[in-house]
Amino acid sequence: MALTIKQVGPCFAGEVTGVDLTKALCLEEVSAIHAGMDQFAVLIFHGAKLGNDQHMAFTKSLGGIEQAIGTSLREPEDHRLSTDFADVSNLDKYERPFEREDRRRLFAIGNRLWHSDSSFKPTPAKYSILHAHAIPTRGGNTEFADMRAAYDALDDEMKDLVEDLICEHSQLHSRGRIGFTDFTDEERKRFKPVHQIMVRRHPVTGRKSLYLSSHAGGIVGWPVPEARILLQDLTEHATQRQFVHTHEWQVGDLVIWDNRQTMHRARPFPNEQPRDMRRTTLAGDGPTVA
Ligand SMILES: [Fe+2]
Repeated sequence: MALTIKQVGPCFAGEVTGVDLTKALCLEEVSAIHAGMDQFAVLIFHGAKLGNDQHMAFTKSLGGIEQAIGTSLREPEDHRLSTDFADVSNLDKYERPFEREDRRRLFAIGNRLWHSDSSFKPTPAKYSILHAHAIPTRGGNTEFADMRAAYDALDDEMKDLVEDLICEHSQLHSRGRIGFTDFTDEERKRFKPVHQIMVRRHPVTGRKSLYLSSHAGGIVGWPVPEARILLQDLTEHATQRQFVHTHEWQVGDLVIWDNRQTMHRARPFPNEQPRDMRRTTLAGDGPTVA
């Protein structure tokens, strides 16, 4: 059966059938997936659980990867997975859910705010490829917002206003929003802000999108309160229900999203239940700001 993509979201997100991710992809399948990503921005595959090696082989068939080094509060000796993977589970290296008050957990639940992965890095992420190994009995959905549709729906005055803005992104900003400020001096240095443009143009389709993220805490040249109000207003606009697709996970699902064209957020779930999600990330082409 040939690879087929059917739209499932309100204005984006496609479900892919007719491809076996446990096997090496042929060139036609790789280009169909890239073309699907250009069009749908989020692609969903249902299937059997992939081993880490299979997940990585699939990822590398799509492009070069971004390493997950220095982006969480896990110490190197606490890692459950290699740094080829972003460990977005709630599990420690012994596969036990973090205690409620564990600062690694409190930092990690910042991903329940709308964001774009690695927007706090000078070269932000292209695709995120998230695979479900274990899911809680309830909650834990991932929601996606189509930032192209959000951009298109702005009025002309707002499009002019945001066109050349440059934002300051840092995990210090996103965590500060939820009252997590308990950082060491080393972490503060490591999470120092980077600049990102606010309007991105897709290199293939030419479509523009709003590049927002909870990591954005300032706009270059703007007073902070005014910048944060605009960022908040734009985020509220972009995450209206007509722009959002909710994914309800099943074990074995693999979801790819384009961080240049979408935002996403995780939803809450019972903390004592394991939610084992493993993410690989395709590196972006370069910084968004010269
Ligand atoms: Fe994320």
